[in-house]
Amino acid sequence: DKGGHKHFMAKEINEQPTVIAEAIRCYLPTGSNSVTLEGVDLDFRNVERLTMVACGTAYYACLTAKYWFEQLAGLPVEVDVASEFRYREPPMPAKSMALFVSQSGETADTLAALRYCTGKVDGILSVVNAAESSIARESDIALPIHAGVEIGVASTKAFTCQLTVLLILALKAASDRGTMDEAQIADHVAALRGLPSALNTALEQSEAIRRAALRLSEARDVLFLGRGIMYPLAMEGALKLKEISYIHAEGYPAGELKHGPIALIDKNMPVVFMTPTDALFDKTMSNMQEVMARKGKVLMISDAAGLSAGGNDLWNSIAMPEIHASLTPILYALPAQLLAYHTAVAKGTDVDQPRNLAKSVTVE
Ligand code: M6R
Repeated sequence: DKGGHKHFMAKEINEQPTVIAEAIRCYLPTGSNSVTLEGVDLDFRNVERLTMVACGTAYYACLTAKYWFEQLAGLPVEVDVASEFRYREPPMPAKSMALFVSQSGETADTLAALRYCTGKVDGILSVVNAAESSIARESDIALPIHAGVEIGVASTKAFTCQLTVLLILALKAASDRGTMDEAQIADHVAALRGLPSALNTALEQSEAIRRAALRLSEARDVLFLGRGIMYPLAMEGALKLKEISYIHAEGYPAGELKHGPIALIDKNMPVVFMTPTDALFDKTMSNMQEVMARKGKVLMISDAAGLSAGGNDLWNSIAMPEIHASLTPILYALPAQLLAYHTAVAKGTDVDQPRNLAKSVTVE
């Protein structure tokens, strides 16, 4: 049942405010300002390193969470794609914990990476959608994301629910390790409770995004740029677009522009900037100017202040509500997903069943 939508992907994109509210309700019971995770036997106090491993979109969720664990909890994090990690067989230092992220809980490479870590680390955590899966079963602690069944091959609501649970875990780590005081934690918890309503506001941009996508659908290649915590989302935006519209797309840290990709910029090249007005905004703006000076087509996704700084020469823009700095990757995932969705619809590709892809990759 597509719930009145043309595709499961559209339905699942639109479900995000509801499923994320549910995930928040499960991990942060109403009325509480702290992150205690009742019933979860987890303590980050003596952990010296966290290793996160996953594939595809779940890998980008891990890369995003690295910023949270490092910045909020002062915990060193290593992130790897499962197919590399499992064959590299890296040494696991004492006092490490390993965390595996998987929607299906059955991804062969992620499961093999988990098995490699068994017995070598102090704890195996997983963040899964399928609570009855192999990855959940073989973990010491499996944390469900409460996204509900995801049918579209392109992961959407699972990604943002993974991010939500990973942020809550990072707050738990910060609380255990004393890197944030009660007021700072309460501030994040309050911001999280406001997230579903901001996601609804973002979904209202669907029609504006559809218009931008009509123009994007004519491109051969698209570049996605972001800095800091928006860099993994740039890669996720590019992955979504290539998976379902078959347009070649790359996600890059904006600061890497000068080190190669700027050679691609000409009047035919759309460049999507994911730039909330955060601490790195001015740095990203100067990259945007470099793209504009070479006649690249800038599509800027930002809040009102950011868009006004972007000026009148933008090829296209998508407005997002203002939000707490830690939550920008979750909020900005929605326009990235909608952009890929509407572009694929404009091109007439098979949105829910893109060619050559399977929902669950249980073989190598
Ligand atoms: O089930 P998993 O989360 O372990 O799957 C990992 C990837 O195969 C998956 O995220 C894939 O990249 C999606 N098609 C992305 O949209």
